[in-house]
Amino acid sequence: MILIKLGGSIITNKEKPLSARRKTIDNLSKSLKKIDEPVIIVHGGGSYGHYWSVKYDMHTKERKYDLRGVAIVKNSMIELNKIILDSFLKNRLNPYCLPPTDFMSGNKPIAKKVKEIQKIAKSGLIPVTFGDALWYGQNKTFILSGDKIMTHLAKILKPRLCLFALNEDGLYSDLKSKKLIYELKGEKPSISKNKMDVTGGMTRKVDEATKIAKMGMNVFFVNGNKPERIVKAIKNKKYEGTLFRGKRNV
Ligand code: IPE
Repeated sequence: MILIKLGGSIITNKEKPLSARRKTIDNLSKSLKKIDEPVIIVHGGGSYGHYWSVKYDMHTKERKYDLRGVAIVKNSMIELNKIILDSFLKNRLNPYCLPPTDFMSGNKPIAKKVKEIQKIAKSGLIPVTFGDALWYGQNKTFILSGDKIMTHLAKILKPRLCLFALNEDGLYSDLKSKKLIYELKGEKPSISKNKMDVTGGMTRKVDEATKIAKMGMNVFFVNGNKPERIVKAIKNKKYEGTLFRGKRNV
């Protein structure tokens, strides 16, 4: 089984509020069609969810955020999710929409529900979930990032590979020269902070990827603009991007 996160930066235009990159989404759908292993898709918020969560000052910490913000973030994620589901359908994939409320209770995943997602994926349907604003309890809410969902799912389902589709070739050892890091074997790279993202941007991704690799699974950062690289990584185990080697594979 494979877990794939479609980052907000690849499926939306982060410079422009509420703009989806429909052509890129279609290209990703076409590539997913070529994969004959069970997959689970998680997508981010980009210029939908992130845009509104910044406007309403909402973060990953559980707090009493503006209720208007909660409603609007949720609504915008449904809108982006619909664009992705439509693209999947158009490209003859069978998505099975699963908002995170289906398998989360507060900030904890419900193991039984998560295991059900695996069964859904094995049937041939493609479970699709996403980062969202979630109810925590005692009138508190929080932003659950798609990256965090990847860690929750990986921990319970132990997929063969976790893939993060980004708007970059992978991680760079040097931002100026864009020198790509091809492989990491347990060490954690240092990343400069991106203040714009409520859920921490690249820092969060690297944190979650490192956690998943420590649990033993391979994690691969790949350019979502080159979806054939996703197919190659899954089919031929040829990694053109940054591979975080899982502890059991080092
Ligand atoms: C989006 O999830 C969460 C919201 C702000 C609703 P992510 O944090 O995973 O989104 P991207 O991939 O970084 O845009």
